[in-house]
Amino acid sequence: MLSIAVSGVSGLLGAHVAAALVRHHRVVGLDRHPWWGDQPLTVLHGDLMDPQFRAASLAEARPEIFIHCAAMVNVDACEDRPELAYAANGVLTGALAREVPQDCLFVYVTTDGVFRGDEPFRRETDLPCPRTVYGRSKLHGEWETELATDNHLIVRTNFFGWSSGLKQTSAEWLFSALSSGASVTLFDDFFFTPLYVVDLVERLIALVGGGHRGRFHVCGQDRVSKHEFGIGLAAVAGLPTTRVQRGSIEAATLRAPRPRDMSLSSARFQQATGLTVPGCEQGLRRFLADRGRPLSERVATVPQPL
Ligand SMILES: NC(=O)c1ccc[n+]([C@@H]2O[C@H](COP(=O)([O-])OP(=O)(O)OC[C@H]3O[C@@H](n4cnc5c(N)ncnc54)[C@H](OP(=O)(O)O)[C@@H]3O)[C@@H](O)[C@H]2O)c1
Repeated sequence: MLSIAVSGVSGLLGAHVAAALVRHHRVVGLDRHPWWGDQPLTVLHGDLMDPQFRAASLAEARPEIFIHCAAMVNVDACEDRPELAYAANGVLTGALAREVPQDCLFVYVTTDGVFRGDEPFRRETDLPCPRTVYGRSKLHGEWETELATDNHLIVRTNFFGWSSGLKQTSAEWLFSALSSGASVTLFDDFFFTPLYVVDLVERLIALVGGGHRGRFHVCGQDRVSKHEFGIGLAAVAGLPTTRVQRGSIEAATLRAPRPRDMSLSSARFQQATGLTVPGCEQGLRRFLADRGRPLSERVATVPQPL
């Protein structure tokens, strides 16, 4: 049994990670929001930007592994408040990576948004060039992690799933709009490689359990547009695909200048672990099957190589 701390434990990814690990390990969650899982979990509530809260939390958790999922994730909010974004995603990550116990593995979850977004299937060896403040602040977090410790994993990803309901995810919004009979307009010129959150948790745990270190892209197999993702979700849910209309990012007024192609290649991850990454339809089937299930049931089959 390992001691594992998970920051952002009340968010989408952190909650699924903690729910999977708490079945076999001593897990301490850190967040400013309440825990919404159905298993008992120790959660310390506070703001990680507060050095006293960090020190007290790390003293109590004594982590052998720290999985850092807390972040300022709203792309437009980061654009509006760049100082806060760099503090929350860059400086805080560096502080945590330096303050964890010396032998602790530091796992930093980061984004496909670190690239310029004009080439498909970017790899770990490609040079980042983020267009948004969010992307730049997360890249800052990657550098802080690398500077603080060699004992790290940096995982770039893009995922979807069912949240606590506090912040509706885009896939939740899409499902709810389509099931209520509404039509939605989705970009057919914006591409990504989405991964269902439980599929990501399985692969994160495999990276940790396999003793891997360094930077990995962990995304879905398929590069799809937002429009194709919407059509896929409607089809798998048995809803009319005609409700999904085509739109263009060119015509949208977005505060942050979005990259057009966020797709990542997970080849390095697959080579290192011997695992595959699922296609979009496979992920959407699992997502829909998990609707309404408690967290513990969603993660019940996650392998535990730790
Ligand atoms: N969702 C995606 O598709 C995606 C894609 C690429 C990368 N990522 C990365 O994956 C990680 C997890 O994302 P997510 O979608 O699970 O995010 P999320 O649902 O917003 O969860 C993050 C949680 O951390 C909390 N938090 C943030 N800063 C904190 C602080 N200073 N002190 C205490 N709690 C704090 C958040 O509270 P507040 O809501 O109050 O801030 C929230 O409860 C992030 O690092 C994100 O950058 C996400």
